[in-house]
Amino acid sequence: MSPAKNKSLPSEKNTGSTIPRHVAVIMDGNGRWAKRRGQSRVMGHKKGAEAVRRIIRNCGDQGVEYLTLFAFSSENWKRPNREVKLLMELFISVLEKDIDVLVENGVRLSIIGDLERFGKRIGRLIKKAEMRTATNNRMHLMIAANYGGRWDITQACQRLAEKSRSGELNPDEINEELISRHLVTDEIPDPDLFIRTGGEKRISNFLIWQLAYAELYFTDVLWPDFSKENLIDALQWFASRERRFGKTSEQISKAGHA
Ligand code: IPE
Ligand code: IPE
Ligand code: MG
Repeated sequence: MSPAKNKSLPSEKNTGSTIPRHVAVIMDGNGRWAKRRGQSRVMGHKKGAEAVRRIIRNCGDQGVEYLTLFAFSSENWKRPNREVKLLMELFISVLEKDIDVLVENGVRLSIIGDLERFGKRIGRLIKKAEMRTATNNRMHLMIAANYGGRWDITQACQRLAEKSRSGELNPDEINEELISRHLVTDEIPDPDLFIRTGGEKRISNFLIWQLAYAELYFTDVLWPDFSKENLIDALQWFASRERRFGKTSEQISKAGHA
């Protein structure tokens, strides 16, 4: 194992930068958006898909390099069958219809999560979409589907244990960097800015390891309403934060003037 940089800490490149290199979003509030209009939750999810297209475009325009969107959690299978089915259909339709737009806009797509549960058809569409966008380098979009932070850490532990058993790895070599490299976000810098819409103030088993030092932004705006202006507000709030990573404020301002 080469002593690469510690990926569980934000990259040096971003320290002091005002635009977050990686933005991670819990897109919450579709159901309530629909309920307020006397519509079915399904309509909320359809409208939510439009907000997904919007944030991808706007983050690209703002110079965000990595965008991770939480689309379906490992816990969302517990929802009524009808809703789960609709969410799967929407996912398929995005994979079938939206890839051209990603290609046109230089967006690379990766789907992160426990993908085995999705079945062969979705599996094939995911592979195709990832391959078609693999060389795009304007922005890297990660869609978290059947994702859970605890699942992610567990699968990393399993792979590390397997490597220890086969002798490929000495358990003494297991450190934070190695764990990070076995998470599904391997190679992706940790999120700098976390946004949750819909008013709840929780992480809901999203990127629990990777968010260790992210700035956390919560807004009451429901996901289908999340506009370019709302994104700019979040980015401006981020720019005003002092990221100390355990140091003192004096140390940070000295380094900034060096
Ligand atoms: C987020 O909106 C979308 C998914 C979880 C798939 P919700 O469906 O959770 O909307 P609320 O929280 O019920 O309003
Ligand atoms: C989190 O939203 C998951 C996604 C946005 C995909 P939920 O609406 O499922 O979260 P909880 O259950 O309210 O915490
Ligand atoms: Mg919700």
